[in-house]
Amino acid sequence: MASSTSKAEEVTGYVEETPKQQGKVGRHCRRFWWIWLIAFCLFVLVIMIIIVYAILPAVSQKEIDKTVLNLHSFTILEPSPTSLLLSLNSTITGAGGIAAHARLDPMNVSFFLEDHKPIDPFMYLKLPSIKGGSSVPVITTNVTTEIASVSALTEFSALLLGSETLRVAIRGRSTLRAGKLHTKVNYNEVITIKGFNQLKGMEIEEYNLLNRTQQSDGSNLGGKVLIPNPTVFDIQMGDVHINLSFNGQALGNGTIPGLHVRPGNHTYDFRARVQTAALLRLAAAGGGNPVVLDVRGNGTDINGVSIPWLAEPLSSLEVKVPIKARE
Ligand SMILES: *[C@@H]1O[C@H](CO)[C@@H](O)[C@H](O)[C@H]1NC(C)=O
Ligand SMILES: *[C@@H]1O[C@H](CO)[C@@H](O)[C@H](O)[C@H]1NC(C)=O
Ligand SMILES: *[C@@H]1O[C@H](CO)[C@@H](O)[C@H](O)[C@H]1NC(C)=O
Ligand SMILES: *[C@@H]1O[C@H](CO)[C@@H](O)[C@H](O)[C@H]1NC(C)=O
Ligand SMILES: *[C@@H]1O[C@H](CO)[C@@H](O)[C@H](O)[C@H]1NC(C)=O
Ligand SMILES: *[C@@H]1O[C@H](CO)[C@@H](O)[C@H](O)[C@H]1NC(C)=O
Ligand SMILES: *[C@@H]1O[C@H](CO)[C@@H](O)[C@H](O)[C@H]1NC(C)=O
Ligand SMILES: *[C@@H]1O[C@H](CO)[C@@H](O)[C@H](O)[C@H]1NC(C)=O
Repeated sequence: MASSTSKAEEVTGYVEETPKQQGKVGRHCRRFWWIWLIAFCLFVLVIMIIIVYAILPAVSQKEIDKTVLNLHSFTILEPSPTSLLLSLNSTITGAGGIAAHARLDPMNVSFFLEDHKPIDPFMYLKLPSIKGGSSVPVITTNVTTEIASVSALTEFSALLLGSETLRVAIRGRSTLRAGKLHTKVNYNEVITIKGFNQLKGMEIEEYNLLNRTQQSDGSNLGGKVLIPNPTVFDIQMGDVHINLSFNGQALGNGTIPGLHVRPGNHTYDFRARVQTAALLRLAAAGGGNPVVLDVRGNGTDINGVSIPWLAEPLSSLEVKVPIKARE
């Protein structure tokens, strides 16, 4: 009923808009101009509220979700049982719309394994303020980072060492600023990174017999070992102690001193103390049959402080390491 009445009025008002009536409307407007002003202000306010509280956050979030983090390098120096020195070189691409012209405040992001339920971050990192653009570098250098959970970090190192690829989630919350407008956004990113793939391709490139009595640690074998690193990780591991065995029989032990694994295929010095009888067999095995040693980590330390989150994954992985035949 009410609607039909108002419709009738509307129709009447529209059809019978005579000059006389227009004057009436004009007078009405002039008299009650302040009502119109208030209405107009309210209208603008409502639009602003909708933009700021509904459209801006939703649009900003959508644009942030579209971005992709590309990791160029991830450097871990000075590892200790409780902290590490972290450097990150990455770029964020794919920011469009408002995100391309906005700025993100510095944010504290957590790093965790995507598949780990419940979420257990192994570390947090304060990212610098990020400017909008199609390809924005995000770089941090030598940030002392407390380890949030040693068990989570150990799990991460084990996956990094043992898998071909792994997925790491990065999550944070920040403020996006576009001119005078700002809104809270969530940063949710999952990156797929290459792992060490069980150190496949590790090989003893050269070795020399040493005179044990002349070596302070009693080593009788020294040489160079190739460690392939297909990842973007650059990790200072300290003195890595290894157990050596051959056909299931313990051969002896060794050390890769001051190991700093860099991306790419590089060789590193090692020294070992192996049974003399076995040494003779190795020395004799030059003729054709490749000798394959089983190598397993047996602790890693820096200045005598052991690093459990590196040592544990290294000791659970047995690597087949052939000795490159001598020409
Ligand atoms: C970051 O990585 C890019 C691409 O690999 C490289 O060009 C740039 O020099 C690096 N920047 C820093 C500070 O390491
Ligand atoms: C980041 O957030 C975590 C958890 O809220 C907190 O423990 C840590 O101290 C924060 N780190 C920085 C650098 O603000
Ligand atoms: C980062 O720390 C390492 C080890 O402490 C040091 O050798 C290197 O020069 C530092 N890099 C920068 C850019 O400060
Ligand atoms: C090892 O070194 C000691 C002391 O320098 C020497 O007496 C010994 O003859 C050397 N042995 C061999 C096999 O060279
Ligand atoms: C392995 O490490 C343990 C503990 O540090 C040590 O006692 C043992 O001698 C090491 N074994 C070898 C073969 O190096
Ligand atoms: C082998 O183990 C012994 C005893 O644990 C240790 O004294 C020696 O330094 C180790 N050798 C190497 C090369 O790590
Ligand atoms: C390292 O060596 C492997 C095979 O031995 C090869 O496939 C890979 O491309 C090499 N990586 C680099 C960075 O040279
Ligand atoms: C290394 O060898 C020692 C002695 O043979 C043994 O006690 C230790 O458990 C081994 N370490 C690993 C990680 O297998």
